[in-house]
Amino acid sequence: MNLLEVNDIHVYIQSFYILHGISFFVPEGKTTVLLGRNGSGKTTAMRAILGLNPPRKGEIIYKGVNIAHLPTHKIVQRGVGYVPDTRRIIKSLTVEQNLEIALRKGSKTYDERLSEIFELFPDFERFLGQKAGSLSGGQQQMLAVSRALINDNDLLLIDEPTEGLSPLLAKNVLKTLHAIKEKRKTVLLVEQNFAAAKSVGDYYYIFDDGKIAHNGKMETLVDDHELISRYLGVNV
Ligand SMILES: Nc1ncnc2c1ncn2[C@@H]1O[C@H](COP(=O)(O)OP(=O)(O)OP(=O)(O)O)[C@@H](O)[C@H]1O
Ligand SMILES: [Mg+2]
Repeated sequence: MNLLEVNDIHVYIQSFYILHGISFFVPEGKTTVLLGRNGSGKTTAMRAILGLNPPRKGEIIYKGVNIAHLPTHKIVQRGVGYVPDTRRIIKSLTVEQNLEIALRKGSKTYDERLSEIFELFPDFERFLGQKAGSLSGGQQQMLAVSRALINDNDLLLIDEPTEGLSPLLAKNVLKTLHAIKEKRKTVLLVEQNFAAAKSVGDYYYIFDDGKIAHNGKMETLVDDHELISRYLGVNV
């Protein structure tokens, strides 16, 4: 079943025509990866889902309801978590304060939610009282992911989690993405690191200049060297 279906969305930023009729599906319990060169429209697609850049035309069906014209807070309340490429953690606050300000009402207690986060990130138990700005880049990224997980969201949108991290820290983030997947979470991921994308992704969509150039199961893309070098500019 598809948790999310994006049908032929056309998105403008001011007068610029950015997404020219994009469609994609996000099946429940799977990781769907958006690929494509810089500026091809991946972040804009995520922001469209969140109502930050709503489409002028087209539908965004989440749990069977068209959310394309809802305000962002209503979309978030329906269980959509966002880890933006800018991370947006507050460095002068502690780890725990960063988690607390992200909290929404829900069925689970705060302690239950925290213990789920500690399962994924055992180190965080020690770091709770520490200023977020004192964490390493990889830990800050994991804090950004935790803020989306603490609300028991059904869909997680994660934009370039390994960007700017050393290979070792990127590997830790990738491990986290695998752990999230094992919990049967549904993830829409933007990931430029092709090795990371292919290891965690079930399905892919390749963006090219505001359109989808290709899509399919990740395992089929893995063998298509010509396609990968044409649209992603990496040689594998
Ligand atoms: N605020 C804005 N004003 C005008 N154009 C914008 C704005 N934000 C994005 N764009 C343009 O929209 C297009 C798509 O940008 P977007 O950020 O969605 O790409 P992306 O695939 O996420 O790229 P990257 O890999 O660099 O993150 C680009 O041409 C970009 O210049
Ligand atoms: Mg982007």
